[in-house]
Amino acid sequence: MADRVRIYEVGPRDGLQNESTAIPLATKRGFIDRLLAAGLREIEATSFVSPKAIPQLADADALLPALPNAPGVRYPVLVPNERGMARAEAAGAKSLAVFTAATDAFTEHNIGMTVDESLAAFEPVLRRAADLGWWRRGYVSTAFGCPYTGAVDPHRAVNVATRLLELGVDEVCFGDTIGVGVPAQVSALTDAATAAGIELRQIACHFHDTRGTALANVVAGLEAGVRTFDSSTGGTGGCPYAPGAAGNLATEDLVYLLDASGFEHGVELEKVLDAARYITGALGKPLTTKVGQAGGWDASSGAAIGR
Ligand code: HMG
Ligand code: MG
Repeated sequence: MADRVRIYEVGPRDGLQNESTAIPLATKRGFIDRLLAAGLREIEATSFVSPKAIPQLADADALLPALPNAPGVRYPVLVPNERGMARAEAAGAKSLAVFTAATDAFTEHNIGMTVDESLAAFEPVLRRAADLGWWRRGYVSTAFGCPYTGAVDPHRAVNVATRLLELGVDEVCFGDTIGVGVPAQVSALTDAATAAGIELRQIACHFHDTRGTALANVVAGLEAGVRTFDSSTGGTGGCPYAPGAAGNLATEDLVYLLDASGFEHGVELEKVLDAARYITGALGKPLTTKVGQAGGWDASSGAAIGR
């Protein structure tokens, strides 16, 4: 059986959170419908954060209950505190992601807490989520570099990941929030994580493609044994508290790489491209991702597909 990779789609959350044009709920729903049609089964749908911090996702309470209840589909939501947890619960969430970082400076800008304070805030949230039987992820942002303090020692990121796992998350996700990482850093980080007792199946990687290194970083992650990668259909995305952060790794670029490399993932490239055109069209932007422009490639005929 071929090696299987999980593609964790962050387009509706990370992809849209920094967009200034108001996106109607029906458009978000239309985007998620197309992601489901493409075979994506883990779709980070929205955030239960302060609507003042992230106005674009202020409709989370209405969006989540409006999503189709498809079997085997998970819609994780970002939750920063108990207030967010109460909202997520009321909206019918069944999985969540808490989010902190390797550096205090970024965490303070992002959620107004130090890393220690954020972990203390997550403790009751994760306990409640565990009681409810929810799937739980913990993000470690700035794991490859911080926009406020520069280089980050991988052991620092691993230490935060270990503390999140001690709080009961099912998976930790290392974020290259501003897209400065390179493959050697991915290997160093995964080595440090496994040396600290973190299992490869507990690790996900979240690359922003700000400087064009995201796919190279995926390859380094695959070689290290990581099998879960985040991506955003259409390549949209970025955090408003991360100056210079650009789009996430595009799902279409990731799917092409995985297909051509023989990994199984259950996602259909042409339908991802439909979803990418839909969301960039709704945002009034051209589709600028590599595979979005070139299409996929049929190795039996040599023809481009899905353009
Ligand atoms: P604060 O201002 O420090 O805290 O915000 P507060 O407790 O003083 O609350 C301020 C106001 O927000 C109050 O309302 C609260 O009620 C309200 P007011 O009295 O002013 O009317 N409030 C809330 N409202 C709704 N839902 C809530 C909530 N909590 C408080 N859950 C807070 C602290 C964490 C709320 C704020 O800083 C925040 O929402 N930050 C969100 C930042 C964010 O979403 N960033 C983007 C996601 S992270 C990311 O993109 C990185 C990632 O992709 C990985 C990577 O790339 O590395 C995951
Ligand atoms: Mg991100």
